[in-house]
Amino acid sequence: MSRVAYVDGQYLPHRSAAVHIDDRGYQFADGVYEVMAVVGGSLLDEGPHLIRLAKSLAELQIPAPMTNAALRVVMREAIRRNGVRDGIVYLQVTRGVAARDHAFPKAARPMLVVTSRRRSPADPRAVDNRVAIITIPGIRWQRCDIKSVALLPNVLRKQRAKEAGAFEAWQVDREGKVGEGTSTNAWIVTLDGTVVTRQADSAILNGVTRLAVLDIIRREGYAFVERPFSVAEAKSAREAFLTSTVVDLLPVVRIDGAAVGSGEPRPLSRKLRECHLAPAASKK
Ligand code: PDD
Repeated sequence: MSRVAYVDGQYLPHRSAAVHIDDRGYQFADGVYEVMAVVGGSLLDEGPHLIRLAKSLAELQIPAPMTNAALRVVMREAIRRNGVRDGIVYLQVTRGVAARDHAFPKAARPMLVVTSRRRSPADPRAVDNRVAIITIPGIRWQRCDIKSVALLPNVLRKQRAKEAGAFEAWQVDREGKVGEGTSTNAWIVTLDGTVVTRQADSAILNGVTRLAVLDIIRREGYAFVERPFSVAEAKSAREAFLTSTVVDLLPVVRIDGAAVGSGEPRPLSRKLRECHLAPAASKK
């Protein structure tokens, strides 16, 4: 089955799908995006993703390209046409095509692109993956709460992680506190069993997986607090983990080369991941 992409009202062969060179996403990174997981044919956490998309668009004063009901249809159509049962939907909205000028153009129409691709179903054993991270000074802007396509600082930091043989880089602010990864949110479990993750301020993206995991933590009655934590605190934590739509929840076993906790097992990380994926898995 050859891949199909939705571009500005049309379903096109993925290999030749394109937007104009004057698209403001291309010239100014003037746009936003969402990545959603498809699990067993259903979109995971679709509602919260659409709420965050609306927030990002509103922050940048980009009009919604269509209603949420229409968007849901397009995403399902992209999933269907690409034969995706387990995979990813990528959705991007830019301010549109206009002659290059920094200020908002008067006449541009938002440009919507939706793609979908298959990937292997989430493997429960992935929770045992040996995820190492590095910590690194952050070089991002001050509105990380907007899911903007302007990801160059994250790209540069992820590359540093890769070159260091690590999966992710936790970006540290001037006060020495961990913000988040380059494409994931950061969490620790302290020695007294309290789950800690930074509060959703403008220094981090309020991950949809983060919100879902916080809901599970509340429901299950685990102790938690939303506050910044330092690199030293992370290194002496009992457990550490990261979350995103793409990886769901993965335990972090090494930080800057040092082991986190005793090494094995990671009961809370496992439990939280199972709880998050369980409703989706039961729909299979
Ligand atoms: N990244 N923080 C950043 C900077 C991110 O880019 C992401 C997601 C997250 C986690 O958000 P969520 O749980 O909603 O996926 C946190 C996506 C998956 C990406 O860029 O591919």
